[in-house]
Amino acid sequence: MVEFNLPANSKVGVGKTVNVANGAKRAKSFKIYRWNPDDGQNPRVDTYVVDLDKFGPMILDAIIYIKNQVDSTLTFRRSCREGICGSCAMNIDGTNTLACLKAIDEVPGDVKIYPLPHMPVVKDLVPDLKHIYAQLASIKPWLQSQSPAPSRERLQSPEDRAKLDGLYECILCFCCSTSCPSYWWNGDRYLGPSILLQAYRWIVDSRDEMTGERLDNLEDPFRLYRCHTIMNCTKACPKGLNPAKAIAEIKKLMVVRR
Ligand code: SF4
Ligand code: F3S
Ligand code: FES
Repeated sequence: MVEFNLPANSKVGVGKTVNVANGAKRAKSFKIYRWNPDDGQNPRVDTYVVDLDKFGPMILDAIIYIKNQVDSTLTFRRSCREGICGSCAMNIDGTNTLACLKAIDEVPGDVKIYPLPHMPVVKDLVPDLKHIYAQLASIKPWLQSQSPAPSRERLQSPEDRAKLDGLYECILCFCCSTSCPSYWWNGDRYLGPSILLQAYRWIVDSRDEMTGERLDNLEDPFRLYRCHTIMNCTKACPKGLNPAKAIAEIKKLMVVRR
């Protein structure tokens, strides 16, 4: 009989508990995934019990407090603190989202925080984004034109500009791609919803002159067609975008041009 077991070094253990709430009226536990590539230990979940009156209302406020006041070894990415840079994406209470936009009050009970799923981990809550950035580069996310450059900017009608709405707002946080089961299993070859939304953003741009080449690049059973309309991507997007619709639009264009 075949037995499937996780490799011993991938089992997540119970880590330390640090309680700094000291009789606080509003104490809350944060259970945070920890892994250090340098200590040879398995991943673990550490628990920090903190006083909610000591910091702001968002999950990011809590983990910044823990890093600054309780455990300086806790490692995560963040920059803007307002949902613009995309760097604080993580799995909070079972959902991929941005720590700076997720209110602590929205999470009943203990707050469980893990890195974005199905990505290699650099350390603690920091996923390795090398592969997905290489996938982004593969769709050439910039305006390509062979016409001589105009003396001023390349103009676009208001109607054509409106076609970019719902696309240009993407902050490349990758909450969508890391919530897509198809990307989990085929991420080596399937581009996933974030990269395909970016691809569509340039395909639909009236100023870009490489639409045919862009579609040729996606005409592939894996790069595009591993999207099976599961829709987790659209549900996960913390910016309210709809990558599933962008992918459907690319598929429609593939049919129309045949
Ligand atoms: Fe993030 Fe949404 Fe862009 Fe996906 S579509 S990378 S979830 S902003
Ligand atoms: Fe995945 Fe979204 Fe398609 S969850 S399968 S990319 S609709
Ligand atoms: Fe920039 Fe959260 S810190 S999106």
